[in-house]
Amino acid sequence: MAVSKSKILIIAGTGYLGKYIVKASVSLGHPTHIYIRPVKPTSDATKLALLKKFESLGVTIFQGELDEHEKLVSVLQQVDVVISTVAVPQHLEQFKIIDAMKEAGNIKRFVPSEFGNEVDRVSGLPPFEALLNNKRKVRRAIEAAGIPFTYVSANSFAAYFVDYLLHPYEKTDELTVYGSGEAKAVLNYEEDVAAYTIRAVTDPRVENRVIVYRPPKNIVSQLDLVASWEKKTGRTIKITHIPEEEVIKLSQTLPTPDNISVAILHNIFIKGDQMSFELTQNDLEASKLYPDYKYTSVDDLLDRCLVDPPKPKLAAFV
Ligand SMILES: NC(=O)c1ccc[n+]([C@@H]2O[C@H](COP(=O)([O-])OP(=O)(O)OC[C@H]3O[C@@H](n4cnc5c(N)ncnc54)[C@H](OP(=O)(O)O)[C@@H]3O)[C@@H](O)[C@H]2O)c1
Repeated sequence: MAVSKSKILIIAGTGYLGKYIVKASVSLGHPTHIYIRPVKPTSDATKLALLKKFESLGVTIFQGELDEHEKLVSVLQQVDVVISTVAVPQHLEQFKIIDAMKEAGNIKRFVPSEFGNEVDRVSGLPPFEALLNNKRKVRRAIEAAGIPFTYVSANSFAAYFVDYLLHPYEKTDELTVYGSGEAKAVLNYEEDVAAYTIRAVTDPRVENRVIVYRPPKNIVSQLDLVASWEKKTGRTIKITHIPEEEVIKLSQTLPTPDNISVAILHNIFIKGDQMSFELTQNDLEASKLYPDYKYTSVDDLLDRCLVDPPKPKLAAFV
């Protein structure tokens, strides 16, 4: 099926997820633009190198702050689709993007920065609940503004969490498991999160809808992950369980943002919230909507980790 090309703008396109989305947009042939904070000659060398790479791929780079309203409006007027990948602390700053889109009046689809749990169907311990609530507030503001949207529930980023849970670089024989380790989560490789997102933003079936990324081969528990890793590496791994009560306590006592990280681990890997609701006929699931796209299963990703583990950022994931 020939896909029509859209002018796509990725806000915060040099971030962890943003750069995967930029590459997916370019590789599907969409005229691709990014809006990033002003770059200085003293900016991080990796970021400068990434921008050079983007330029060589034909990406148009706009620089500005989210509160430079007029500049943002004029950038928005040059594109059709907006995908925001701003970091968690900036989620509520997306109201500024919504205001600018209202004024621009031409945006055919907006994807706010979510890319995690289906926020209208789950709930977390207080530090995580606050984050989910911010995402809900952004959803309601988009709806009130009448801007066509797609909400992406990408569940967990696979390279990120495989790195966090298994430490494939370190060839360790000891691992931590949160709670019993039996709850099922959904781990999607970041490249696939981006590929599905770019398909969804130009797909009329996903206009004003939530799309959930729950490919069947990516539904795993922590114990499944450790067992597969033992099999692939031929090592026996000693597991230390951190009981649920201890994880809850840590979410109440650690400073921010560590309390949020712990509450996220609780939600995904102890409570199993990503698999806590059935998808019905009315839900849109990415691997069903795009059956021709060959996603990376968790098993494929672990095979890759044996030779060349993907290198996610190691900072806290909030
Ligand atoms: N499901 C999962 O497993 C998972 C994991 C990680 C993240 N996520 C989600 O994915 C989304 C993107 O997260 P990420 O990890 O890719 O974010 P990130 O790399 O930490 O940051 C993304 C971008 O946010 C922008 N930013 C940072 N501080 C800013 C400020 N003060 N003002 C304006 N912009 C600022 C920066 O853009 P510029 O410097 O380019 O302007 C940065 O590159 C978030 O919604 C997050 O919740 C999900």
